Order: sequence, then structure tokens, then C-alpha cells
Amino acid sequence: MKILLTGANGQLGSELQATCPAHITLIPTDYTTLDITQPEQVKAALDAHQPDAIINAAAYTAVDKAESDADRAYAINHLAAATLAREAQRRGIYLLHVSTDFVFDGQQSTPYLPDANPLPLGVYGASKLAGDQAVQEYCPTAAIVRTSWLYSAYGNNFVKTMLRLMAERESLGVVADQIGTPTWTRTLTDTIWSFIAQKPQGVFHCSDNGVASWYDFAIAIQEEALAIGLLTKAIPVKPLRSEEYPTPARRPAYSVMDKRATENTLGYTLPHWRPRLRQMLAQLQQQATNT
Ligand SMILES: NC(=O)c1ccc[n+]([C@@H]2O[C@H](COP(=O)([O-])OP(=O)(O)OC[C@H]3O[C@@H](n4cnc5c(N)ncnc54)[C@H](OP(=O)(O)O)[C@@H]3O)[C@@H](O)[C@H]2O)c1
Repeated sequence: MKILLTGANGQLGSELQATCPAHITLIPTDYTTLDITQPEQVKAALDAHQPDAIINAAAYTAVDKAESDADRAYAINHLAAATLAREAQRRGIYLLHVSTDFVFDGQQSTPYLPDANPLPLGVYGASKLAGDQAVQEYCPTAAIVRTSWLYSAYGNNFVKTMLRLMAERESLGVVADQIGTPTWTRTLTDTIWSFIAQKPQGVFHCSDNGVASWYDFAIAIQEEALAIGLLTKAIPVKPLRSEEYPTPARRPAYSVMDKRATENTLGYTLPHWRPRLRQMLAQLQQQATNT
């Protein structure tokens, strides 16, 4: 089986490359080899490689920057997703498109079902929602997999930022009134590889299980990193309200997703975020030991 991967050098793309099953021939492409905003490049890549499936891990993910860069965010998250969907449908190729919990406005207090009404608060979420809708419209056999609060040993993310700031600073304030679920990329890649084998269609939610605020997540990062020696001293971490940490983009106050349809498809319960964090930190420590 041959799979074309877009955005191969991002967090998720890197984890997909690291975990690709042996029976799959992965064709990793990044911005320099396949710019998904260029329909001719997309067609040429599909003509050249004739893949059985496409995994779209490419995205414009700078949530705050998107507020002043909407055209670019829509070009990548909406229009390019539409191009991939049209080409996948025309060629009978299975498309797995990745999306986000930021399509929701955060007004619910129970987990969002895949068919819950989306109402994004910012440009990033709106551009991703437009992409989800285009994929559903142009390629009904595709799977749209929404994930949340993604982190990995690759690229930049909240865990790595916390580790750096906790090593540099004497104290730290972290937002405590936004609730969601941290997700290790490995949970998502396990799901993606299973979906590639099963080819389900429709909208799915995939995150680790459990809930946390960014503050809870930061506290856990510090505790787990201290336990394995990735950090050597504890610093005070203070809970902040969102108003005390203003950002250009508004974020949902609650974006926990209901994952039962995904778990039914997978045949297992997704792991809790805390042991997944422990595993990712162990991987970081291993990398540090090796270098
Ligand atoms: N990160 C999160 O917390 C989070 C949460 C929920 C959902 N998601 C979703 O999960 C997916 C993967 O996110 P991620 O964290 O892996 O993002 P990421 O690290 O930012 O990776 C995205 C990749 O896409 C590439 N890209 C951007 N424009 C492109 C283009 N025109 N053509 C080809 N490649 C292009 C980027 O390249 P450059 O770096 O060179 O621009 C980058 O390598 C995305 O769909 C995202 O919306 C992420």
C-alpha cells in the first residue's frame, strides 16, 4: 500500500514517518516538494506516485498569526484541502484529513460529538472548519479526524515551551480557565494507521482521554519532568485567567471532544493523557541521552 503524506516535517508528519508500518510505502512530502496550495503540484504528485491513500497533515497552525494572515490560513486550511478532496474523489483515493477542536466555540460543558454544531472563535478555527466542510462535500468517502492540544518530541509545542520556561524562569503563570485534552501525536498516529487499514468515512474525534486546563497540564509537565530528571528544580506555577494572558485569537473555554465513535472503530479505549505525557517525556530524555 502506497500513501502520500503532506506536511511530513510537521509534528504529526514527523510522528507518522517514525511510526509507519512496514507494509506501507510512505511518500513523505513537505512544503518544498509539494505545496498543497498549488493544484498543479498536487495533480503532478498524484500522477507521479499513484498512491492508494493521502494523509493530509499539512496545515497553517499558527493560531494567533492567522488573525492577521487570513488569506494564507484559508489558502492552506480550506482551499488546499478542497483540492486534495476533489483529486482524491476523482481518482478513487482514500483521504484522511486532520482537523481541530478549535472549530468549536467552547460554550458546551459536556464533550463535543463529531456532529455538534461548530462555531469557531478565530480565523484558524474558521479556516479549518471550511476545510472540513470542503472535504465532506467533495470527497464523501474521506475521514476527517479532529484532534486537540497536540504535542510531540518533534517541532515546537506547549510541552517543550514549558520545559524551556521552567528551566529559565523563577516562576510562571499559565491559563487555568481553558479546558481541553492534551494529546500525544502517538495516540493520533496509532489511530491514523488503524483508519488507513479500515477506511472509515465521516468526521471522527481523536485525542487522549481525560481533561485538563493548560495550568493542570503545566503542573503535570513539571512533576513528570522532575521525576525523570529532565528538570532539576521546581518553580512556582500560578493559575491565570484568560484576560490576564491576552492573545490575538480567542480560544474555546471548553473543547473536550467525544471520542466514542473513534473508539468503537478502533476497538479499544484511547489512553489517558497523563501516562502519554510520561511516555513522551521519556522519549525526550532518551533523545537528550543520545545526543
Ligand atoms: N498543534 C496542535 O496543537 C493541533 C491541535 C489540534 C489540531 N491540529 C491539527 O493537526 C494537524 C497537524 O498539526 P501539527 O501540529 O503537526 O502542525 P505543524 O507542526 O505546524 O505541521 C504542519 C506542516 O504543514 C506544513 N505546511 C504548511 N503549509 C503547507 C503547504 N502549503 N504545503 C505543504 N505543507 C505545508 C508546515 O510547513 P512549514 O512549517 O514549513 O510551514 C508544517 O510542516 C493539522 O491539521 C492541525 O490543524 C493541531
